[in-house]
Amino acid sequence: MTIPEIFETMEYGPAMEDASEAHAWIAKHEGQFGHFIGGAFTAAGESFATKNPATGEALAQVSQGTQADVNAAVDAAAKAFPRWSKLSGHHRARHLYALARLLQKHSRLFAVLETMDNGKPIRESRDIDIPLAQRHFYYHAGLAQLRDSELPGHQPLGVCGQVIPWNFPLLMLAWKVAPALAAGNTVVLKPAEYTSLTALLFADICREAGLPKGVVNIVNGDGATGAALVDHPGIAKVAFTGSTEVGRKIRQATAGSGKALTLELGGKSPYIVFDDADLDSAIEGLVDAIWFNQGQVCCAGSRLLVQENIADDFHARLKTRMANLRAGNPLDKCIDIGAVVDPVQHAQITRMVSENTAGETYHAPIEMPSEGCFYPPTLITGLEPADRLMQEEIFGPVLVSSTFRTPGEAVALANNTRYGLAATLWTENVNLALDVAPKLAAGVVWVNATNLFDAAAGFGGVRESGFGREGGWEGLLAYLKPADAGKPVKPAKVHVPGEADFEGIDRTAKFYVGGKQARPDGGYSRAIHGPRGALLGHVGIANRKDIRNAVEAAQKAAGWGKTNGHLRAQILYYIAENLGARGAEFADRIRAQTGRSAASAREEVEIALSRLFSYAAWADKFDGAAKSVPIRGVALAMNEPVGVIGAFCPEEAPLLGPVSLLAPAMAMGNRVVLIAGESAPLSATDLYQVLDTSDVPGGVVNILTGSHADLAKPLATHMDVDAVWSFSSADISGVIEAGSAGSLKRTWVNNGRNPDWFGATGEGKAFLRAATEVKTIWVPYGE
Ligand code: NAI
Repeated sequence: MTIPEIFETMEYGPAMEDASEAHAWIAKHEGQFGHFIGGAFTAAGESFATKNPATGEALAQVSQGTQADVNAAVDAAAKAFPRWSKLSGHHRARHLYALARLLQKHSRLFAVLETMDNGKPIRESRDIDIPLAQRHFYYHAGLAQLRDSELPGHQPLGVCGQVIPWNFPLLMLAWKVAPALAAGNTVVLKPAEYTSLTALLFADICREAGLPKGVVNIVNGDGATGAALVDHPGIAKVAFTGSTEVGRKIRQATAGSGKALTLELGGKSPYIVFDDADLDSAIEGLVDAIWFNQGQVCCAGSRLLVQENIADDFHARLKTRMANLRAGNPLDKCIDIGAVVDPVQHAQITRMVSENTAGETYHAPIEMPSEGCFYPPTLITGLEPADRLMQEEIFGPVLVSSTFRTPGEAVALANNTRYGLAATLWTENVNLALDVAPKLAAGVVWVNATNLFDAAAGFGGVRESGFGREGGWEGLLAYLKPADAGKPVKPAKVHVPGEADFEGIDRTAKFYVGGKQARPDGGYSRAIHGPRGALLGHVGIANRKDIRNAVEAAQKAAGWGKTNGHLRAQILYYIAENLGARGAEFADRIRAQTGRSAASAREEVEIALSRLFSYAAWADKFDGAAKSVPIRGVALAMNEPVGVIGAFCPEEAPLLGPVSLLAPAMAMGNRVVLIAGESAPLSATDLYQVLDTSDVPGGVVNILTGSHADLAKPLATHMDVDAVWSFSSADISGVIEAGSAGSLKRTWVNNGRNPDWFGATGEGKAFLRAATEVKTIWVPYGE
């Protein structure tokens, strides 16, 4: 080609990144990798090849971790934990800073190795993955420094087992390792089997940085190795990113083990374009939303929802843009579309698209490499909301599209998914954007932008996209626990009939459902006696239908979540006012049920009043935050209600127990289904007369009585319950965690130990955090 010809055609020439340093690093390890345990690489064992998906070239042999390898790694991490967790925050910060600096110094090697192992364009690994991983370590050096002063009363969990996927191998490692170390934990991390190399290079820089041995351990292998790590009894927490299917298995495997868990799972995130949007910007955003990393992104904007009146124009512009994408060797710096990670993933994408018969499929008419795992950018238009490809994650460069007419319809379609990870919306109308963003069921919302990430801003999902946040203070808290471990709960003491029997009018406490009293569906009741055997009344025995009715009533009261903090505070104060007016009666009831002294019963009422005041105070003060992210704009961390919370009350405090749960839940805008304690349920059932006179809308608080052991499963498996809390004396923590795996609802269980309801640990931010979801709304500034 002559120079005039080049000017004539303006064709891209190849601009290949040099891979020799990466090959040299692999050669230094003789092309074989063991695991990184206790600060050293182990000898290679039985191994598998890790390949470059763009060429099929085998890059290295990586060992398949065995149970013995996992044991050795957990032991090394456990041995390193006492010293590491006792280092000052400043010293941990120095280590994290050293890792950040070394990631920077070796950034090109990391980027090239990532691209070779994963198939993503070098442009992305060089400009996005690796810089974001560095930023994560810098940011968390800061959190390590500030942890003690900003989060007193917390301590690290212990050894964290971390399992990560192949789509952002080093970045996911950073998201897992940096907060764990900043908090004072040690880790065993298992990279995905397709992409282990940058984790092993990271192991090298841990040595170079002088990180104490055993603080970071890396065990390679497939799902079996991951499962062995998750199941290991020496692990205090599991942090997982990957498919919803495996996330669900992990929820079941860890149920009842006392292990903390965060899950970051799949998504089918909507990309909403209103008719007044800047269409060309929205097209560029969409290219980034679905073709970044070949669409293998959990928060990919994979579901286009475009306003009907601009749909044809928008699709036409999009097709033009698609025809200009460049696919090819991902080490070429001028490439937009690289290879998908593995032939298995390629086959899955191909199958899902070819099995679809709905709508119209358009493959970008661009030159595709003849070999390697390449899939063309694809658009499928004209789909209906229920079509399979509108609902299921494809995890490839395939965009599906549908239309809407009104903003209300856009929100309904956007939320018509079992997932809730991210959402994007484009409009020039700021009022519309700020009206729609809070209505979207997603952990992250981007306004006139997409795929913005930062270490300071929480990332994570709701619904079947998992629970927990990564990044920011909220992400650090997922690696900490209260320093006060609470007291072991005592079994419920159900009193039997005795000599002193009933005098007075027979009184049966019904359930409280939807603001009305309700009889038990099964028609069974049980007598409640005082410690000396006096009959105090009867309560209903709830069954699964009563749970259903209560949840339905709570669902109908969704308007509570839209009220403002000031109104909720007023209602909580009003509950306190009305409870205070009947304080003597409530104290008598506590005394009659428990046999405690009059002074002790009166004290419980007083603390309950104070607690209601505390949460009334918090209702308009548990603020979100405007995060300092490195863009011209803000990331707003909004505290939103979780939704419907089912809560099992403790036995230790008949009145204070239910109040300690319903008040933070109500303050943050949730509706609750409370299951009263079993030994002294009459204080909880007496509460509804107070609620009735305090302007609490029907359905916001629902109260049932019955066997905790019998009700744990129906409540935990109910698909319309968003979270379950248990402070029960019954052994139901495991049942609740296992039951939650279906809808992947959040759980907060006591594992047999409760806070001191009468003291400082019985209230505060831990309760408020459990009652909120952090939604991060990104709003860039500028034209
Ligand atoms: P996966 O969920 O099977 O793998 C993720 C990680 O979990 C890997 O390290 C894997 O070895 C490990 N793993 C697998 N089974 C395990 C088990 N029983 N216990 C513990 N660890 C286990 O994802 P996979 O098979 O690589 O991809 C399948 C689909 O999952 C993709 O097509 C995509 O739809 C989705 N996916 C979603 C990701 C996300 O970021 N949300 C990331 C990767 C995949």
